[in-house]
Amino acid sequence: MADRDAVGDGGPVTDNIATGSPASDIPSPADGYVGDPAVRAEWDNRYADREQLWSGRPNGALVAEVAGLVPGRVLDVGCGEGADAVWLAHGGWDVTALEVSGVALARAAGHARDAGLIVQWVHAELTEAALPPASFDLVSAQYPALLRTADAAAERALLAAVAPGGVLLLVHHAGMDTQPAHESGFDPADYVWPSMVTELLDDDWEIEVDEQRPRVAPDGGAGAHHTDDVVLRVRRLR
Ligand SMILES: C[S@@+](CC[C@H](N)C(=O)[O-])C[C@H]1O[C@@H](n2cnc3c(N)ncnc32)[C@H](O)[C@@H]1O
Repeated sequence: MADRDAVGDGGPVTDNIATGSPASDIPSPADGYVGDPAVRAEWDNRYADREQLWSGRPNGALVAEVAGLVPGRVLDVGCGEGADAVWLAHGGWDVTALEVSGVALARAAGHARDAGLIVQWVHAELTEAALPPASFDLVSAQYPALLRTADAAAERALLAAVAPGGVLLLVHHAGMDTQPAHESGFDPADYVWPSMVTELLDDDWEIEVDEQRPRVAPDGGAGAHHTDDVVLRVRRLR
């Protein structure tokens, strides 16, 4: 996860995002991005700061939790540089990957192209992308830095995307939600944590996993110092 420790068809969907120099990776305002420009700019800046921000390897909790699932349609929320999306596509999943940063998306698309894999890329904020409702067999959100709002829009969007019979897998770094606000600007009160999704579950949902466990961390990357995960895996029954 990042140094700062944060953690239908409405958005532009493409598998053809151009890659190039870091500067040319940054989309112009007219690129069809759907969401708050300030959120995109913050993450674009963080990605543009480094040639590669994350490890380039799929997240351990995703690999563990997906092992028993039959590949179908998956939505990767906050896909970053695309390691999970590429891994899922390689495993036979039909992948839609959503991300606010055009810099990250361009890298992700390059990795998929290099691997000869097709991924549908959505350049949007989760809450602004008009995703087809109840249509993904798996919604994966790995350390997503989703901003919290009074109407729980992000939490509801995660749940709304899951198809009946499908699974939401939400993984976060353990203990971050109770950290004090940091002088860097990080305040856990600003973000969505797994417990906030659990609070919204009704009889249509079954909790399959809700636990803290040691993180199986990929080597390298900006979040390598985090040692434990909170893993929430819930299934939509109907
Ligand atoms: C900590 S990173 C995790 C990236 C990736 N899932 C991984 O594990 O390597 C959080 C990601 O969420 C993205 N993001 C932040 N706010 C978002 C939003 N509202 N909708 C979609 N993605 C968002 C950021 O750009 C960033 O790539």
